[in-house]
Amino acid sequence: MLFVIINGPNLNLLDERDAGFYGGKSLFYVNEYISDYAESVGIETEFFQSNSEGAIIDKLQDVRLFADGVIINAGAYSHYSLAIRDCIDALPIPCVEVHISNVAARDDFRQRDVIAPVCRGVISGFGKDSYVLAVEALRRICTDLDEE
Ligand code: DQA
Repeated sequence: MLFVIINGPNLNLLDERDAGFYGGKSLFYVNEYISDYAESVGIETEFFQSNSEGAIIDKLQDVRLFADGVIINAGAYSHYSLAIRDCIDALPIPCVEVHISNVAARDDFRQRDVIAPVCRGVISGFGKDSYVLAVEALRRICTDLDEE
């Protein structure tokens, strides 16, 4: 089973952003943390990061052809990108949305999430473990454990 983890704008600078929200670790470190967990439960992972909306959409369209599921942290695009929303809506594979910080406890402009309605669910506020919880959520969806 293969899950693709997509990170959007500014997440490449994770260790340079506010550590109170983002934990102070690099994206490379976080990706290793996720792949270690995924491997321990028999799941392959592929990672992609882009600051560009179009590149994220191209990647989503591409992965629909070979991946079993997608995890996306679209960063600030989560709050307004209808193009990413429409792309996720058209995916034939499940997509789980992730945020490192607890978006619900932050600025008003972050309270609007246009991609949440087309994702299977949103995991927010658990730091790097938000991604691990998303791997587990997707694993359960893809093995029908969520139906039991
Ligand atoms: C974020 C939350 C967004 O509001 C913000 O724009 C980000 C990161 C998170 O992971 O907590 O870039 O998606």
